[in-house]
Amino acid sequence: MTEPVVLLERRDDGVAVVTLNNGKVNALSGAVVAALHEIALELTANPPGAVVVTGGERIFAAGADISEFGGADEARGITARIHASLDAIAAIPRFVIAAVSGYALGGGCELSLACDYRIAGERAVFGQPEILLGTIPGGGGTQRLARQVGPSRAKEISITGRQVKADEALRIGLVDEVVPTDELHERALSLAAECARGAVLSQAFAKQAIDRGLSVSLSEGLEIEQELFIESFRTNDSQIGVKSFLEHGPGKAEFTGT
Ligand code: COA
Repeated sequence: MTEPVVLLERRDDGVAVVTLNNGKVNALSGAVVAALHEIALELTANPPGAVVVTGGERIFAAGADISEFGGADEARGITARIHASLDAIAAIPRFVIAAVSGYALGGGCELSLACDYRIAGERAVFGQPEILLGTIPGGGGTQRLARQVGPSRAKEISITGRQVKADEALRIGLVDEVVPTDELHERALSLAAECARGAVLSQAFAKQAIDRGLSVSLSEGLEIEQELFIESFRTNDSQIGVKSFLEHGPGKAEFTGT
């Protein structure tokens, strides 16, 4: 039996690990994009405590499968499907960490940007090289990269198609942490496990408030925060957290994820 092009492992510590497994360059073929979409829906319907998205050691993902490109009609389907898939990843109601070792180019970079937090190995390389094919990012890159690093830097990266190494990626805010390559998975898994032990429903409210707030005015964003703050008080974990604080001090609550 052939292996799936994307693997999903649900660990005992509540962390789900999604691993791209599509041959030597981990191209985001139609099959990979569909599998990621299906996994994102499954992780939304039945959420773990936290998620780690990762790829190969030398290549996280080399971007869309260029051999599937054709004309504008094919492009319409390709961009619609990758947007739907990466939007579904972004909408998983848990903290989603990209653990990037090696090249994250084109759709690989866009997949990392659809995650909530990016940890890079020190040899990681990011980029939006579509312009070198005479086209532009079609998996959300123009929008998510600009929100992540600012419009002028996003334009420079997308218009030159150049590669951004891990240390620069950290400096410009494209990634959040850089760690030695051999510590990458341990760091991502331990951060994810820490989150998985937390008040995951309220973590989802915090994520939702930040994400929804980024596409509306400040006053609308502040209203969203108020709604979700109130919602968080309907969780059992808010009762557990407040009681534990009053009785035992900060940071001792044992949350139930409910
Ligand atoms: N889609 C389809 N095939 C791809 C691919 C992609 N995105 N990226 C690489 N490949 C193929 C190459 O054509 C080559 O095929 P071959 O073995 O039949 O000749 C094979 O994968 C290995 O690629 P190669 O460039 O020789 O490997 P490398 O280790 O020197 O470099 C990369 C790896 C990822 C840095 C380089 O392949 C690259 O820059 N890829 C394109 C990235 C890109 O433009 N992405 C945006 C797509 S819109």
